[in-house]
Amino acid sequence: MKRLTLFFFLTLFSAITFAEIITLNTPNSQLVLKADSATVPHILYYGDKSANPTELENAGFEAFPAMPAFGMIDMIHLPALQIQFPEGDLNLDLRLADISHATTENAEIVSFVMTDKRHKFRLTLFYKAFKNTDVIETWTEICNLEKKDIVLKRFDSGHLFIDKGNNIWLTHFHGDWAAEAIPVSERLTKGVKTIRNTDGARNAHLDAPEVMLSLDGEPNEACGRTIGAALCWNGNYEIRLNIDNHDNYHLYAGIDPQSSEYVLSPKQTLTTPKLAFAYSVEGMGGVSRSLHRWARECGMMHNGKAVRDILLNSWEGIYFDITEERIIAMIDDIAKLGGELFVMDDGWFGGKYQRNNDSSSLGDWVVDKKKLPNGLQTLTDAAKQRGVKFGIWIEPESTNTKSELYEQHPDWVLQAANKNLNLGRGGTQVVLDLTNPKVQDFIVNTVDKLLSENPDIAYIKWDANASIQNYGSTYLPKHKQSNIYIDYHLGLISVLERIRKKYPDVVIQNCASGGGRANYGLMPYFDEFWVSDNNDALQRIFIQWGTSYFFPANLMAQHIGGSPYHMTGRIVPIKFRADVAMSGRLGLELQPKNMTEQELQQCRIAIKDYKQIRDIVQLGNLYRLVAPKAFQVHPEPLPPAEQDIVALMYVTDNREQAVVFAYSLSQFQYQKPQRVKFSGLDPEKQYTLKELNIKAGEQPCSLNGKTFSGDFLMKNGILIPLNGDYASRVFLLN
Ligand code: GLA
Repeated sequence: MKRLTLFFFLTLFSAITFAEIITLNTPNSQLVLKADSATVPHILYYGDKSANPTELENAGFEAFPAMPAFGMIDMIHLPALQIQFPEGDLNLDLRLADISHATTENAEIVSFVMTDKRHKFRLTLFYKAFKNTDVIETWTEICNLEKKDIVLKRFDSGHLFIDKGNNIWLTHFHGDWAAEAIPVSERLTKGVKTIRNTDGARNAHLDAPEVMLSLDGEPNEACGRTIGAALCWNGNYEIRLNIDNHDNYHLYAGIDPQSSEYVLSPKQTLTTPKLAFAYSVEGMGGVSRSLHRWARECGMMHNGKAVRDILLNSWEGIYFDITEERIIAMIDDIAKLGGELFVMDDGWFGGKYQRNNDSSSLGDWVVDKKKLPNGLQTLTDAAKQRGVKFGIWIEPESTNTKSELYEQHPDWVLQAANKNLNLGRGGTQVVLDLTNPKVQDFIVNTVDKLLSENPDIAYIKWDANASIQNYGSTYLPKHKQSNIYIDYHLGLISVLERIRKKYPDVVIQNCASGGGRANYGLMPYFDEFWVSDNNDALQRIFIQWGTSYFFPANLMAQHIGGSPYHMTGRIVPIKFRADVAMSGRLGLELQPKNMTEQELQQCRIAIKDYKQIRDIVQLGNLYRLVAPKAFQVHPEPLPPAEQDIVALMYVTDNREQAVVFAYSLSQFQYQKPQRVKFSGLDPEKQYTLKELNIKAGEQPCSLNGKTFSGDFLMKNGILIPLNGDYASRVFLLN
């Protein structure tokens, strides 16, 4: 690391105090910090690039410690860092000791090293500003230099400070299994607002670890200063928002310290998860696009440059009823539909115990010879012969009490000493103790065996269907039991790193009872995630909409489900189901044998047309055009006076091509249709609309083949014909 060239800046109010101003720049935003060896780094400003430090100081902008430490800030403020030292002292007394500066191909990194005046303790605070996208990451390294253990009682990854905010709105994403990512927007009021998740093993079902702040009043999709923050962690977390006594706003984000005070041994360092934040004057849409770009650059496996295959997953088609004949028939069906990959889901494994439902066999990763007498190779060969790839489901972090693994290694599951196990899915599921290196090796070896014995497996669906219900580890020493929640995830990351080192090219889907692991803590090891177990196309529009605020389309696995849909009973026409799934990574999850000829025909059309637009959808820039009325800050009474439609589009970087999706959510006779204004186009360019996935046997709508300027489409918009229930349209703009 190169020492930063010092730039001394004379503050206005003190003739003798020197402070160093450090600015981290992204293309359109800046983070301005004051660094002073007499104290710790302070945040002076985060926002628009145009503000300069002199203006900020002259305008009376306050600076606040970047990492507010207990014992150093006025006790009325919330700390981001609190340590208990060996003799019991809880106070920190940090001083800035060094500043380093490094550049990488795509970013600039500044690190502030702070040491404590009274204790042997080092804190390094990092900021990484990206060159091609308006995202800055922050995290810390906490190092124990004492001769005895210290206890980390609070250890946020980052803290953001907004001087004299006014009418700031928070949008967070609340949900549940099968109903993920519902945006909730509220004005921040005095007091502390906390968003947290305590599942233990996943963190995106109930409250997701991402929030947006709209600095200019109610959230707006297209304009207004907006900050997005994503905590890159898969475990329990806490995001706190607080308005202080000077009307300054603070955002704190980090691992949840509840039941998780971390015991750090001498010489040990804990690196906290990254907090990635983005700033945009283009509202929530601008923040989403910046974060999507960042995700494709470094937030996911393979740098997010590759487009994903069109697949058929067996789960909702046949559930546990796997037989060789059925699987080969499904491989045949997806090949004939034009698909590229088949994924065999749950139910293929088990030795002593057959996995015919969810109550047994996790951990017994051997092929069930009763169901698949000729093993996996017959299946991978069948796929190869038909020109499709083969994928397989595993859930390696769990076992069932009814399994050979549990019988052999009862000590390998998380468990409270002398207490009955709390049992999860199927009445028998328990989570393995990933703090234990032997368990880590078992998982790595399981995956290694599967992939080395079956080199034609091109895809893994990695599931995690249990939360941590048993708090205790037979591996961790007594005094480190409170490290469980963190060491579990550090163990998981180490497992994934080892697997990825050996198998970088296998596509791995991140799944946790649907979208339970849609977070950036794990995505660097995965290529995509399963958005939700709810495949009902109508509800999927809402779930996908909410998920899109932080995640790009190539991460979002979206499948055409069956009809009537097993969860909701809803009967939805195949075109609508396909149009909804096509707005992300397209797949199918049903039994093709149960489809009508007309449904199969529509799927062939959808798959063929999707291949034309896949790179625009998966790698393009997202513009959310018309939000579901239920998601608006002031929802209209239902039925609303205007037709309730949803529209979104993806635009290529060069703005030469775009794809528009429009769906009608409900239709009532007196409702006015809505004219949809497009976004992100080049006003000077002419765009010709081509309708895709046209209903089998029907003609395209009247807009097909019509040409408009980008300017016209963005200023005036067009009426997209959406008549009748489950009306939807997809257009390619060339
Ligand atoms: C979870 C996943 C589903 C499916 C089942 C299999 O619920 O989210 O997609 O894989 O497990 O048991």
